[in-house]
Amino acid sequence: MKNFIENLPKAELHLHIEGSFEPELMFKIAKRNAIKIPFNSIKEIQDAYQFNCLQDFLDIYYQGAQVLITEQDFYDLTFSYLKKCDAQNVRHTEIMFDPQTHTERGVKFATVIAGITKAQKDAKIQFGITSLLIMSYLRHLSEKDAFKTLEESLPYKNQITCVGLDSSEKGNPPSKFKNVFKKSVEVGYIPVAHAGEEGNAGYIWEALDILNIKRIDHGNNCLQDTTLIKKIIKQDLALTICPLSNTALQVVKNLKEHPLKKMLDLGLKVTINSDDPAFFGGQVNQNYIEIQKALNLTKEDLYTLAKNSFQYSFLDKITKEKYLNELETYYKKNK
Ligand code: HPA
Ligand code: ZN
Repeated sequence: MKNFIENLPKAELHLHIEGSFEPELMFKIAKRNAIKIPFNSIKEIQDAYQFNCLQDFLDIYYQGAQVLITEQDFYDLTFSYLKKCDAQNVRHTEIMFDPQTHTERGVKFATVIAGITKAQKDAKIQFGITSLLIMSYLRHLSEKDAFKTLEESLPYKNQITCVGLDSSEKGNPPSKFKNVFKKSVEVGYIPVAHAGEEGNAGYIWEALDILNIKRIDHGNNCLQDTTLIKKIIKQDLALTICPLSNTALQVVKNLKEHPLKKMLDLGLKVTINSDDPAFFGGQVNQNYIEIQKALNLTKEDLYTLAKNSFQYSFLDKITKEKYLNELETYYKKNK
């Protein structure tokens, strides 16, 4: 099974580039920029990665991102992630980035986007990996702040496909961002949002009805509400599920109790993703491997999950077909 998963062509649809920041690279960049971080060794960093909830994690995640200053830093961060994609047969990835985490510290929007997009171009040339960007608004900040970020993004509109919503969910419902999402859609961005990770099903209703999202990040708590499940299926919206993130943040007690198989059986369009791989103990393949083992998933289940990852990506139809054909050929040969 491990071998089948490792060679399975797949897409990753839920990945925060700041969450792919491995301790080794964090040290290297901190040193390069002469920035002090509150850790003396890689081991100390790893030991700090014990979380009880989303906020515990976010506090450390934002701290690590403080060392990112120059275009080269954003390039190194992104290229390092894309190299890992190549090693895992991730053929396409939809990368979230949090501009406000950087612009709040005085880093220019232009610097962030230049570093990330240069790495995307190089990875396309060197590995043939396609990728697109999801600009995520931080929901613990105000809608006014999000509007400022939207404004700053406009000169780079062609390099950004989606807007997203992340950070501290509870107390910051999707409705808080109603106007900025409306405007984001008007300028051409596709809306997605984290909803129902720690927040209840009501947050998912709002994300669907008020923000009109086209894909649900996490969405675990849709299982609280059968009417909502029916609506998600009817609207043909996919969920980006992140198994190792769910256990690390105690959204799910352990992988054996993860509802992924139940979701598949209900007819929900589920995908597997790593969320913040440097913090949660594994890249996307590790997520596939561990959830397969815990839930005894079949090769057919894994094929469905990989198929969903391409099907529910925001790729153009032709590229999507190309990947789906590649996947089908692989599955027929290896099932
Ligand atoms: N949830 C909310 N915000 C985040 C996450 C997450 O899983 N990862 C990075 N920012
Ligand atoms: Zn996330």
